[in-house]
Amino acid sequence: MNRSWPSHAFESGLTVPAEWLDDVLLNPPLLPWSEFWPHFSTPLKPQRRLGGLPGLPKNAVLPTIIIKEEDRKLLAGWQTKRRIPIHIWHVFYDAAYGLSFDRAEEWTHPPVCDLPRRQACPSSGGTGRVAQSPIRTQGPPMSKPALQSIPSSGPAREALRQKGQFWTPAWLARAMASWVVKEHPPLIFDPAVGPGTFFAAAREVGFRGGVAGFELDESALADSYKLGLASSELAQVVVGDFIGSKITFGLPAVISNPPYIRHHRLSDTRKNELRALALQCLGFPLDGRVGLHFYFLLKCLEHLAPDGRLAFLVPADVCEGVSSAAAWRRLSERFRIEAVLTFGEAAAPFPNVDTNALVLLLSRRSPANRVRWLRVLKPDPDAILAALTRESGNAATTGSVEAQWRALEELLGTGMSRPPRPSSSPGVPLSGFARVVRGIATGANEFFFLTRAQVRELGLDERYFQRALGRTRDCTADTLPVAHLDQLDHAARPTWLLRLGKEPKDVLPVAMQAYLEQGERMGLPERPLIKTRRPWYRMEQRTAPPLLFAYLGRRDCRFILNRAGVVPLTCFLCVYPWDDDRGKVERLWRALNHPDTLANLVFVAKSYGGGALKVEPRQLEMLEIPLHVLREARLETPQAWTQLALLETPAHRSPTESKQASASTDRDRSLIRSRSHR
Ligand SMILES: C[S@@+](CC[C@H](N)C(=O)[O-])C[C@H]1O[C@@H](n2cnc3c(N)ncnc32)[C@H](O)[C@@H]1O
Repeated sequence: MNRSWPSHAFESGLTVPAEWLDDVLLNPPLLPWSEFWPHFSTPLKPQRRLGGLPGLPKNAVLPTIIIKEEDRKLLAGWQTKRRIPIHIWHVFYDAAYGLSFDRAEEWTHPPVCDLPRRQACPSSGGTGRVAQSPIRTQGPPMSKPALQSIPSSGPAREALRQKGQFWTPAWLARAMASWVVKEHPPLIFDPAVGPGTFFAAAREVGFRGGVAGFELDESALADSYKLGLASSELAQVVVGDFIGSKITFGLPAVISNPPYIRHHRLSDTRKNELRALALQCLGFPLDGRVGLHFYFLLKCLEHLAPDGRLAFLVPADVCEGVSSAAAWRRLSERFRIEAVLTFGEAAAPFPNVDTNALVLLLSRRSPANRVRWLRVLKPDPDAILAALTRESGNAATTGSVEAQWRALEELLGTGMSRPPRPSSSPGVPLSGFARVVRGIATGANEFFFLTRAQVRELGLDERYFQRALGRTRDCTADTLPVAHLDQLDHAARPTWLLRLGKEPKDVLPVAMQAYLEQGERMGLPERPLIKTRRPWYRMEQRTAPPLLFAYLGRRDCRFILNRAGVVPLTCFLCVYPWDDDRGKVERLWRALNHPDTLANLVFVAKSYGGGALKVEPRQLEMLEIPLHVLREARLETPQAWTQLALLETPAHRSPTESKQASASTDRDRSLIRSRSHR
């Protein structure tokens, strides 16, 4: 064909019927009619009416290709899945004009992230050329728009949670990718590719090796074109489940932000599969509350090739959960923990998500006895990489990153997400002074927890109720006087908890029987927690604790002196001092609210986004009250504790020794408890 077709008129990968094409190509008309249209083949020029953007004069008439906005995602998904490039054609009786879908996307949707955009290569149906000069936006990486805008609530947010779809910000993907590809692996593997965030970042930092991985959701993968990834590049990405798949080769480099899917969203079959995986990788199962993300990490580590590097972006619960300590001890014997990245608020990878994110960098090398620990203060990938690769020196603090070396034993003992403990703050755990129990879970607050007005309206006898506190906001101070309950009554806040025991319904007053029947009609006896109770309306029993602990919050975790004698619902923990002498309880309360004691919460709490902490009862019992605070409050160190302190774990004990010691320490702690209890 030696006619001057418009440059993109025919491209490789033709998909029209062959006979039709033969006819057009073998018997070409003199000139297709469309080529006589005004401005056919005129090059685009900046147009004033388009604000200087390239275009054609208004009277131009051209063959037109239309792609409907709502079809873009579907087409991209189809192309990625089938690996067949799509072309769109405008067919006339004497000529046809086609354009590859990839090219159309490039023209109509400029990139929305900071990654360089690659033109499609021949097999993806582009022009057959690779762009020499990738298009880049200007400015530092963190100032560029994020690919994903996360809805703050509602079904769209819930759908993201369900699928674990929160994309890594480009600046962090770049930092992680830079470290992972540093030793030039032939291939990088991501078990949860999403739109290919890490692959695009790796390309951006110059990685030219292969990419492979898994992605369950085809439509997430379909967005890879937005990051400049051609579908041909993703030939080794499987659309499917990573956990259930069999990996048959060693992975030279792994990079991932695995789906953060909590245990209650996992099916029983999946849980069994995960249990088997933990047994295989660790030799013991993990606590049932561990989320899917930890298992992604285990499976990737299991398949990491010798000397291979792995970078994982995970929530802090990976290091703060019940079975985390044992799991990390085992992993630290098999792998080298190279570095841990934690983030200050201004550099939170997911600013609007309730997660304290960490990056763990590991390699399949012999364990080292010290680990780099970074606190990232600003989203600055170059500063992170510099801190990770600096050979000498201990602390390397810049305006963007604080870096230090930590002894492996200390790090594992403290918890990898936590800062090192100041060495000058020995203390006595709260368990030496009190035991901690969670507040009452009713299973149906709307039925069991009423206002005074409701109790009266229903004609229920107040003797069947216990005064209770239902939410942290109902007591914002650190004492709860009796008068406060009247204020809550006036504000129509519920404070009356129905406290029935095992008594059969028919011995109860008629009004109470009628109320319980109403509960039965509401289907309460079938609700998950309630159906374990006999009879279903029997409430959990607690005596009013002298101290309450508001255990979840940003900066308002505090101990409350319970002068009103309420029992708390689950938003508080109950603290029962071993010695309930009023004066001693008050001194303990003061010691617990001392800023130096509260500062120790971080070492026992689970951390969430925005500096929020959550403390479980057993963890609160481990809260250390510094010795100087005990002295100030004139609280005596329990004698049994002083003996116990001699058994405490020195920082450099081996994993096996410390396991044995902590078993005996736990035993001794419970001894203190039972002794004092009597
Ligand atoms: C947190 S996103 C990370 C995506 C991307 N790597 C990034 O960092 O921006 C996790 C991805 O894992 C996918 N996913 C969820 N369960 C999966 C599974 N069982 N196997 C493979 N991918 C899965 C989700 O669809 C989601 O796209």
